[in-house]
Formats: sequence, C-alpha cells, structure tokens
Amino acid sequence: AANKLDEPFIWNRPDELGLLGSSFEFTRKELENRTIQINRMTLIQKIHIEKLTRIATALSSESHMPTLLELILDGAKELTSSDGGTLYLKSSDGKSLNFHVVKTSSLDIAMGGTHGNITWPSLPLYLEDGSPNKEMVAALSAITGEVINIHDVYEADGFNFEGTKRFDAANNFRSKSMLVIPLRNHEDEIIGVLQLINKLDENKNVLVFDEEDKNTSLSLASQAAMAITNRILIKGLEDLLMAFIESIAKAIDAKSPYTGGHVRKVAEIATELAKAISDDNKKFPHVKFSDEELKQIHIAGLMHDIGKISTPVHIVDKATKLETIFDRIEYVILKCELFRLMHPELSDKVDSDIEFLKTINKGGEFMSDALIDRLKDIASQKIVIAGVEQNLLTDNEVYNLSIKKGTLTKEDRDAIIGHAALSLNMLETLPFPKKLARIPEIAGNHHEQPSGRGYPRGLNAEELSLESRIMAIADIFEALTASDRPYKDGKKLSECFKILEFMAKDNEIDAELLKFYYESGLYKDYARTNLKEYQIDEVEKLNI
Ligand SMILES: [Fe+2]
Ligand SMILES: [Fe+2]
Repeated sequence: AANKLDEPFIWNRPDELGLLGSSFEFTRKELENRTIQINRMTLIQKIHIEKLTRIATALSSESHMPTLLELILDGAKELTSSDGGTLYLKSSDGKSLNFHVVKTSSLDIAMGGTHGNITWPSLPLYLEDGSPNKEMVAALSAITGEVINIHDVYEADGFNFEGTKRFDAANNFRSKSMLVIPLRNHEDEIIGVLQLINKLDENKNVLVFDEEDKNTSLSLASQAAMAITNRILIKGLEDLLMAFIESIAKAIDAKSPYTGGHVRKVAEIATELAKAISDDNKKFPHVKFSDEELKQIHIAGLMHDIGKISTPVHIVDKATKLETIFDRIEYVILKCELFRLMHPELSDKVDSDIEFLKTINKGGEFMSDALIDRLKDIASQKIVIAGVEQNLLTDNEVYNLSIKKGTLTKEDRDAIIGHAALSLNMLETLPFPKKLARIPEIAGNHHEQPSGRGYPRGLNAEELSLESRIMAIADIFEALTASDRPYKDGKKLSECFKILEFMAKDNEIDAELLKFYYESGLYKDYARTNLKEYQIDEVEKLNI
C-alpha cells in the first residue's frame, strides 16, 4: 500500500494488524485533509498576491489623486472582503485626519474620491490640552502607528464610537468587526489611516478580521502610502512650476500697464480655441487634445512673450513715433512756439504745422512722400536755443516722424523681433517635463506666419504646428481688441475681424483656423467678459 495515499487503506482484521491498519487509515485521511487545506491556503494567498500586485501596479500608475485614493480603499476592501471602509489622510499641519473616501457597499454609499469632496469635519489627533486623542481608533492608529483589530465595535472598551453609531442609526446598519491600519510611507512617516468595517463571508455574515487580513492590508498600506507621497511630491513640484510661470507672466504683464493682462488673455483665448477644435467633429475630426495637452497650450500662452523681459519698456508700449521714455511731441511743440516768437507773421502756419506734427506722430496714417516732404520743410526751419542756431527738428525726430506705417522704427522693430527670438531661446533652455516639452515650440513660434515671412526664424507653413497657429491668432486677436493703450482705443470686433481677414488673405495667419474661430462664436464669449460695450458689434461673415 506504500505510495498509494490517495486510496483508502482498508484492512478488516480484528487483531493488532487490523488496529494498525485503521490507524494508518486515520493518518492517511488526516494528511489528505491537511493537503486540501494547504492547497486552499496557497490558492488564497496566490489570489491575494495577484490582487495585491494588480492593485500596486494600478497605484503606481495613477496620477489623479482622488482616483488614487479611491483605488486604495477599493483595493483594501477587496483584499479583505470588507463591506465598508474609510480612507483618512493627515492634514498638512499634521493636527487632524481628513476624510477622503468613505464607502459601504451593502448601503451603496460612496463618498469622496472621484465622487467629490466629503464635508464631514476632520478628526482631531490631539485634544485641547495637547494630549493625544486616544478615544478615536483612527486617531490612535495615526499617532501610535498601531494596527487595531476590533471584533465588535459595540463591545469594545476604551474607544469612542459615537460617530460610527450615529452613522449606523441613520443608515440602519450594524458596524461590527473593524481593522484600522496606519499608512506609513518609505520615510516611516504616517500620512493617513485606512479603516475597514465588517469583513464578510460568501453568505454576507460578518467575520472577524484575521492575521492574513492584517498582513495583506499592511503591505497594501505601504504601497498606498508610497503612491500618495509620490503624488503629493509631484503635485508640489507642479504647483511650484505653475506658480513660477504665473509670476513670470505677471511680471511681463506688469511691464506694460497699457497692455496689462495680455499674456493671461492670450492663454485664455488659445486654450478655449484649442478646446473647441478638440470637441469639433466636422472641421477637425482628427484633432483631440487631452487635458494635459490643453494645459501645455495654456502654459505656452502664459509664456509666449517671456522674451519681453528684455524689451525696453518704452518700446513695448511705444504708442507714438516720438515716444522714448516720454513722448517728445511736447518738446517739439515747444520748439514750434519758439519759432512762432521769432516769426509772428507765420503764426497761422505754425498752428497748422503743430496740428500736422501731432497727427503724424500718432502713426495712424501712411506717410506718403508728400507728407514726408512737408515734414522735412518744417524740420529745416531755423530756431535759436541758448544762442545756438539749429533746425526746428533734430535728425532723430525727423527719422522717427518719418516712420511710414505705425510708430516703430527699424531699430524698435528689431528690438521687438528680438523678444520672439529671446522667448524661444529662453524656453528652449528650460528642462520642461515630457508632457510640457512642446511649450518652447508652441510659444516661441507665435510670430511665425504660414507665408514664411514671420519671425524669428521665418518658418514655413509645414513647419508650424496647429498649436502654434492657434497661439498666433490668439496673440493678434488680443492685441487688436486691447483697449488699454494710452492713445489707442480697442477696435470694434468687426474691425478686428476685417484686419484678421486681410492677414489671412496675405497668408500671415491660418485662414481655416480664423474661419473656425469666427464660426465657433468663441470671440463673442471672450468679448462679453473682456471688451468694452462699444467694441461689441456684429461681425459680417468672413470672405476667405
Ligand atoms: Fe509676442
Ligand atoms: Fe503677445
């Protein structure tokens, strides 16, 4: 019969050999039972390990904090077959435990995590006199780091279960067995507590938590604490980066009180446009931006003019041709008055010359050759200052007033073009994390044009990403509508779109994108909150 333990060992003799036989049979049966038990235990452990591995993998890859926290509680409930549970995290001052997720499967209760915030008051870890709050199991576990296993909360001594009992009464529930596990991270710091309620068997009977539950929960808790700590550290870095970006954006906006809020508004316009494109299924059916990509566009918007840090303030805001640190027009008028004193008979001419100089200084009109000739005539008239005869206008004043279009000289323009090159340069040197890696390109190309005539690099249409084209339109639209310039009113929407339409025809901006922006009606939403009443008018259908 050796080696045949799977078959019964029957020996029907009444003598000693018979007795030995039945004792063999007894041992055989016992061994068989133990083997079944061990196999069962091994199987359960295997399932636990599999579950634990699956949960741990999910924990390490989940970056959304509320989802992560819910995943932890769900995992712990699953591993221990618990009906309910609560996940607390320590408050940032370390003085209390905040409710983050609460679940009771049999009552269909799910709060916190992905279901929104829980408004229940937090549990104080210390009493008013500063002594540890030992009455609350969760607080005690958070303070001492102990695992607490309670067979029946209604029978347990030394703890205050008023809150649990109130919950039970309100929900017609009976909390019984409870397992409380501290969440300890890799630095041996307790960051929260996991509280499990009512371990259930297959028939929904409440069981007491066992050693196995304690061990699996502890190993889950350490994985969970690590995942939470990582998430908190990453979030801290992200918050720091965002705060830093916002403060740079503020500094650039503050540089010009007139164009105040430009970068913030450009970021808003660009992000809204990108969202609408992502949601659209007709014109851009294949374009989908994830939340992270939208965030990337938003940050690119905030950083697009970062190079303006080095542009002289008087050029950022050069509203008239004669403006340097101040507008020299007053000084020019003073010189005209001096000329009038010397030639009283030309007083009428001086009046009209002053008017002429004031007008061309604003840079509103194109300077034809005839206008430049008139300017030169005025300039060449002689005046005497401190006994020295000189031209009414200096060469530099004539040079600035002769600017044919706008208020910027070539040198001013170079300084401004420089900002785009510098923006690109500065952004390219920043080690952005992978998900924000395209910021330099999106932000740095906002003055490039599909025609290839843009700056700083003169890229062509194929080299411009959709995001950078979005940024370009947002930048121009904001600049056109901005009403906070000293000598310039913000244009009406109809005028803005006329100019944008011309720019699209000249291939300076993406025509399809402009059309989409117009048809989406997004500009109306922007106008309602950002523009003045008089600017908001009807925009005719674009002819592109
Ligand atoms: Fe710019
Ligand atoms: Fe800009």
